[in-house]
Amino acid sequence: MAYRNLLIEDRGAIRCITLNRPDKLNALNRETLAELHRAFEQAGLEDSVRVVVLRGAGGKAFVAGADISELATLTPLQARDLSRFGQQLMSRIEGLGKPVIAEIGGFCLGGGMELAMGCHLRVASEKAKFGQPEVNLGLIPGFGGTQRLLRLCGRTATLGLCLTGMQIDAARAHQLGIVNLVVAPEQLEAETMKLAEQLASLAPQALRGVLDAVMLGGESALPVGLDYETQAFAVAFSSEDMREGTRAFLERRKPEFKGR
Ligand code: COA
Repeated sequence: MAYRNLLIEDRGAIRCITLNRPDKLNALNRETLAELHRAFEQAGLEDSVRVVVLRGAGGKAFVAGADISELATLTPLQARDLSRFGQQLMSRIEGLGKPVIAEIGGFCLGGGMELAMGCHLRVASEKAKFGQPEVNLGLIPGFGGTQRLLRLCGRTATLGLCLTGMQIDAARAHQLGIVNLVVAPEQLEAETMKLAEQLASLAPQALRGVLDAVMLGGESALPVGLDYETQAFAVAFSSEDMREGTRAFLERRKPEFKGR
């Protein structure tokens, strides 16, 4: 499948999707959003893909936001459609059923932060910068930022970031629970791939169960969330991998998960 703004590469069971508009700091124009929709749909359909890593080309930015040159000309109705299109992308990533890791090497602003928050795990370089600067443009976040930030780190930090548009560094983002791991810039790719390889070696059905229970349960009342957990727990028992994992423990050997 041909993409103008993405590079796609498979490393074993890990699909690496690179946003490739470095001259625009990988800003999300409509075409790029549409390509991301396609790329994630494809990654979800292919059983051989166990984990997805999403990164930005050029080293300076993960993504510096929605493309401001496009935003500048939108009518309110077009803005509504764009907001929905962006939100649907983040929801598609969140609901993929396999882990998606954002590898954040630099600016992670606006729509970039919203995209990163749609991913399940975030690994950041020490030099990454985070923020929701939309207020500086007379705008507000439109790809789910107000809601996902609220769920990740609470009302105080969300209002602090979204009302002021300030940028924070990776250490602060880590303190706030926005990123999982902060590493030296030269270690970013290796550490991200190490995490991706670890996840790719595990039983996909178990990973899916965790994702479903946490992502769906997080949006539900406790009894509903507990039921998601029970269903996912039971489904894990239908997999060969679960038999292998428990047997290997009892036989004091490493499990060999086959993805079945
Ligand atoms: N949309 C469109 N283009 C963008 C962009 C965005 N969100 N962010 C950066 N770019 C473009 C710049 O226009 C510039 O293009 P040009 O060389 O054709 O003029 C190029 O990317 C490099 O950006 P530049 O601003 O020159 O880099 P910098 O190092 O001086 O500043 C930032 C980096 C991230 C601080 C700055 O680009 C910025 O503030 N970007 C917008 C962030 C934002 O508000 N995002 C939310 C959008 S809703």
